[in-house]
Amino acid sequence: MSTGEAVAIAHPNVALSKYWGKRDGGGNFPAVPSLSITLAGLTTRTRVRWRSDLPNDRVVLDGRELRGPEAARALALVGRVRSELGLGASADVESLNDFPTASGLASSASGFAALALAAVPSGCDWEAARISDLARRASASAARSVFGGFVELEAGPRVAREDDFLAASQVAPPAHMPLVVLVCVTTEGPKAVSSTDGMRRTMANSPYAAAWVDHAPRLHRHLRDALLARDFERVGELAEASALAMHACAFAAGVTYWNAGTLEALAAVGALRADGTPAFATIDAGPHVKVLVRPEDAARAREVLGATPGVQRVIEATAGEGARLASAGEGP
Ligand code: PMV
Repeated sequence: MSTGEAVAIAHPNVALSKYWGKRDGGGNFPAVPSLSITLAGLTTRTRVRWRSDLPNDRVVLDGRELRGPEAARALALVGRVRSELGLGASADVESLNDFPTASGLASSASGFAALALAAVPSGCDWEAARISDLARRASASAARSVFGGFVELEAGPRVAREDDFLAASQVAPPAHMPLVVLVCVTTEGPKAVSSTDGMRRTMANSPYAAAWVDHAPRLHRHLRDALLARDFERVGELAEASALAMHACAFAAGVTYWNAGTLEALAAVGALRADGTPAFATIDAGPHVKVLVRPEDAARAREVLGATPGVQRVIEATAGEGARLASAGEGP
């Protein structure tokens, strides 16, 4: 018997100023602020049914039931909703991505944003900030995918307590600064090191960890100012600088996400720039390179990147909307 059902749709986001590193003390609070673009063109659809006839919560992702550590964050999220709302039922979760899962394409961001929205029964009227806080506890980048356009997540409190509240918020709507993100997919396989593990190892072992935590907020403020001024080239330069600083810090701790295609794509972005096309790269916790260009340069950049050795395919995305409840027929 089903005691409530909702389907939510959410999109991944790509961070322009990166979140990397957590505050000590639990609760999944980021150590640095971040700013991202929510992407249209890549989609997660998640259905949650609260069922009194199901003995335990169940999570099925892309047709496969998740067990053990793989299911832990989703189970913690639905468990939190159950205890906050006093629900006497189990969650039956079914989720589908239309892009590679857990490969550095930010499937956790769209996945947990969609799960948070679908898990809270619609009659409860939680506002978006509360959904964002719920999603953040599973994956901090997911807090940003609850909102559309250009979205910011502040760093957590210096001494964070588990129950402190922290939600993302929109800095500017999708149309604020027209741009195209060309996602250069450099492998179809899942990534070897999860972002949580990569961050933990970086913060514990990188000689540059303190420098990153000191530098990232400054870079973030400059990027936010450039975005509000609609200065595309400055935003691109700072986004590339943020990604390179984050990966340099991680590299120094032996945390490497890149493959040969990553370097080839970076070189192609450099060549585009040398040739007069403003193109800027950013890289998340995976080997793919996401290239920011103006809409009028997208076709040319796509041609060059698509012909780059090691780039298997290019997905084109633009700034899109935040998470929303689906209408009938849009489910997974
Ligand atoms: O929220 P997580 O655990 O998926 O970590 C995201 C980390 C990066 O994608 C590399 C950066 C970011 O701000 O999204």
